[in-house]
Amino acid sequence: MGERPALQAAALHAANPYVAQFPGLAQQVHGQPLAYLDNAATTHMPQAVIDAVVGFELRSRANIHRGVHTLSQRSTDAFDDARATLRAFVGAGSEHELVFTSGTTEALNLVAHGLSDAGLGAAVLQPGDEIVVSALEHHANLVPWQVAARRSGARLRVLRPDAQGRLDPAALKPLLGPRTRVFSVTACANASGERPPYEALLALAAEAGALTVLDAAQAVAHEVPRLDAIACDFMAFSGHKMYGPMGIGALVGRRRALERLAPLRLGGDMVEWVSEQEASFADLPARLEGGTPNVGGAVGMAAAARWIDAVGRAVIDDHVCALRRHAVQRLASLPRLRVLSPGCERTAIVSFVAEDAHPHDLGTLLDHRGIAVRTGHHCAQPLLECLGFGPTTRASFAIYNSLDEVERLADGVAHALEKLR
Ligand code: ALA
Repeated sequence: MGERPALQAAALHAANPYVAQFPGLAQQVHGQPLAYLDNAATTHMPQAVIDAVVGFELRSRANIHRGVHTLSQRSTDAFDDARATLRAFVGAGSEHELVFTSGTTEALNLVAHGLSDAGLGAAVLQPGDEIVVSALEHHANLVPWQVAARRSGARLRVLRPDAQGRLDPAALKPLLGPRTRVFSVTACANASGERPPYEALLALAAEAGALTVLDAAQAVAHEVPRLDAIACDFMAFSGHKMYGPMGIGALVGRRRALERLAPLRLGGDMVEWVSEQEASFADLPARLEGGTPNVGGAVGMAAAARWIDAVGRAVIDDHVCALRRHAVQRLASLPRLRVLSPGCERTAIVSFVAEDAHPHDLGTLLDHRGIAVRTGHHCAQPLLECLGFGPTTRASFAIYNSLDEVERLADGVAHALEKLR
């Protein structure tokens, strides 16, 4: 939390000034006001984002680039503006480029595939090369690397956390060597909430000559990693986890790194010329954006970035971290309940396991009280196995959540445990 002033508990208890901007939250579930605490999976959208998407669909909907008519030009301009907004949002400079994808998963697949595919010439990854990933990763930042290693003959090495689920830069050093080509890490583990020292990890890997990849999906709604401040070649994030639409995301990174990727989607809009037997490819970003893009999604994602900046990144970060701290305090005081990464300060996620209570039962009983949480392995089975946990119950916070909702969560868990044990 650095030197930021801590939010007063009273301010957290006061009526949340943002919630009224989110029409999707103004509803009851099982006769109770909705407490939406599943923001690590998907956030809700403020009216400003909904309006931006609807405005595009009503006024500018047309395909981009290939039309001379007015709507096609409006749509192309809207797409270009969205790219410029999002580039600025993550601190991209002239040496960077931003490629729209369907989300973080596609962005990470684009990198892993693009470095290992030999279809268009020699792949970057060669037999005997090494790829290092952390054990904190979502399957989307692990499985593509498993396949890339198999496809190229490279070796996949894993940076494991300590018993508390933390990553240590000192543990990365011995994994880096002359054959390390790639290092990939999350900015925040979706299953445990752990926020690793990714700045130091990326810097070490870059010094060793590796291409560096950051999965920023769980950080972009509040902490917002900035490319101008980290040693990062590729960063992936999603619109739907940052108050924007589903089905849109971005891969942003250094041009010279993006240029090394074999395209994942071959077809329209990514070629320069095509003959019967051959094709040459367009420059970035079009080269990696084959097919009709999700223009409405890009417009909405850019509106979400503007909305985050209007509220203030530090305001959002302070708020969600304060809610998490309070949730840890309340939950950890319940009998035979363990919170993952309890000491982690800069995170919006609290994940926990309770003896003799299955997370699915806990989640179902919480839902009956109008409280939405996520249960299971959270697409991160290796991490939970490595830490000796099974499935967990996970609550995750956004700017529209309140301390009262954290209280409801803790009371709901206490009640459910009494019933289930
Ligand atoms: N990746 C999303 C999550 O952590 C779906 O829930």
